[in-house]
Amino acid sequence: MIREIVKYPDPILQRPTEKVAEFDEELRTLAADMFESMYKAAGIGLAAPQIGVGKRITVIDLNNQQNADDKIVLVNPEITHSEGRQVGEEGCLSLPDIRDKVARAAKVTVKAQNLAGEWFEMEGTELLARAFQHEIDHLDGILFPWRMSALKRDLILRKIRKLQKTGEWK
Ligand code: NI
Repeated sequence: MIREIVKYPDPILQRPTEKVAEFDEELRTLAADMFESMYKAAGIGLAAPQIGVGKRITVIDLNNQQNADDKIVLVNPEITHSEGRQVGEEGCLSLPDIRDKVARAAKVTVKAQNLAGEWFEMEGTELLARAFQHEIDHLDGILFPWRMSALKRDLILRKIRKLQKTGEWK
């Protein structure tokens, strides 16, 4: 089922999520809904708070082609290792039309559970490393402008407030 994407400044986006404890049908349905909602919105990653669910789960598909092999589900993910630095443009489905450069680690290792509750490790570089960091930030209540300088963040927040006033921020 396609669910509505929650937009900033909804408080659920700015709160740490709760760990997933039950690996049941409800969790599998949640993951399927997250993929469906992400594909509909043409995103490459989506975290549960973005559809209003405060749980520690995120989905990623860098190709957005709905191929089973490209689908990544991370339940209770943690970054266990990060190294290097990359600077690249980021956007977020919860901050529509806002895009800006963000510095991230160049390479990260993530430890997470799958939908059956089994732990695994995955390494990512370039765009995948960026997606891991952006999505896991969501699970900690952090949005990408918070990873930028205070000056740049304030410019973005000012732009959003202006859009809210004119009713262009939905
Ligand atoms: Ni995002």
